[in-house]
Amino acid sequence: MVQTLIRGRLLTFHAEPKSMEDHGAYSYEEDGAVLIEDGVIAASGGFADVSARAAPGHETVDHRPHLILPGFIDAHAHFPQMQMIASYGAELLDWLNDYTFPEETEFRDLQHGRRIARLFLNELLRNGTTTVAAYCSVHKESAEAFFAEALGRRMCVVGGKVMMDRNAPEGLTDTPQSSYDDTKALIADWHGKGRLHYAVTPRFAITSSPEQLEMAGALMREFPDLHMQTHLSENHDEIAFTGELYPDAPDYTGIYERYGLLGPKALLGHCIHLSEREADALADTGSVAVFCPTSNLFLGSGLFDYQRYRKRTKSLRIATATDVGGGTSYSMLKTMDEGYKVIALNGEKLNPFASFWHITRGNAEALSLSDRIGTLDAGTDADLVVLDARATPAMALRMERAKGLAEELFVLQTLGDDRAVVETYVAGEALKSEL
Ligand code: GUN
Ligand code: ZN
Repeated sequence: MVQTLIRGRLLTFHAEPKSMEDHGAYSYEEDGAVLIEDGVIAASGGFADVSARAAPGHETVDHRPHLILPGFIDAHAHFPQMQMIASYGAELLDWLNDYTFPEETEFRDLQHGRRIARLFLNELLRNGTTTVAAYCSVHKESAEAFFAEALGRRMCVVGGKVMMDRNAPEGLTDTPQSSYDDTKALIADWHGKGRLHYAVTPRFAITSSPEQLEMAGALMREFPDLHMQTHLSENHDEIAFTGELYPDAPDYTGIYERYGLLGPKALLGHCIHLSEREADALADTGSVAVFCPTSNLFLGSGLFDYQRYRKRTKSLRIATATDVGGGTSYSMLKTMDEGYKVIALNGEKLNPFASFWHITRGNAEALSLSDRIGTLDAGTDADLVVLDARATPAMALRMERAKGLAEELFVLQTLGDDRAVVETYVAGEALKSEL
């Protein structure tokens, strides 16, 4: 078998960096290398040590002086929203009704789904993202298109057909029974194939009847190792309408709680306006709050109170995500740039090491996938991103003044985008340069 030795400056995280001085939280190798065999990291560390372990005849790719990190992970995005991202002037519920739902009806057509799924994964790879937790449309075909495209690239992805049976146009609703049947068939056909993971995906409480949430809960009981993804507490009008639809629930979170949808593999998009009781319910069940800063700013949904959720006695697990097309960028660098500003508006600063931990190991842990992705540890899958902090004239000029790794990371996050991504490797294959 052919081994590939990838040389450059390596950065990988072991734990969440608590401060700029928390050097034990990561490993950095100025002259490092990753040895890849059969899509898996065989060794990583200093170039001299790692190259000594490479078999004769191995290939070498020299990325010096660029940085090599684990591939970025996006914990929440909607692949059917590529052609309505950047739609003007609405808050969540109008934005869904006026732009999102009409767009998603197009995905009844498998060919259309295939085209957009291909372009979506290409766009992620261009931005250094190697894993995404994606919402498909209500149509089973859209999930088939998404999984087929990811499988063809050997990508590790989480995805699911959206379950939605009310408060949406005709052509974009299923029924409790059909959503159960379609989900079950998709699980059988795709979950565990290659690196694919199925997520039971009720869109949110507004578009699911109690009967449908019951079905989603039944699926989670039947397949307890699956992810569950939905939206929670994004917008005040959404919360008020949800309360009318579920008058007996104690609050919005209580709805998902009642149907057995919370747990360590539950990914809850937004979580902006949670009460203390709701935050406790998420913490007690190990559920994950997914912070989507570009979306929250674009839709005027509110400021995710990161520090409140982290510092409370029962702290929340937090993932970060683009939420394309409510989000405005496919880039996890731009996502953390906006995340930094949201956290700054709440009076705190997120240090650059914590930012890069979030979009690599942090999101891998949030998705319960850190045994496979999110680090450069030997034995994990060889998903990598190669970054150039001097990719544009403005970045190069700024870097003339940069001192040290933390500052370089902050420049990448603040000024970088897809242009800073030199290469993206999926299971050891260089895919960005193939696009
Ligand atoms: N809530 C329910 N569906 C959606 C969606 O597609 N995008 C966002 N941002 N919020 C939602
Ligand atoms: Zn979303």
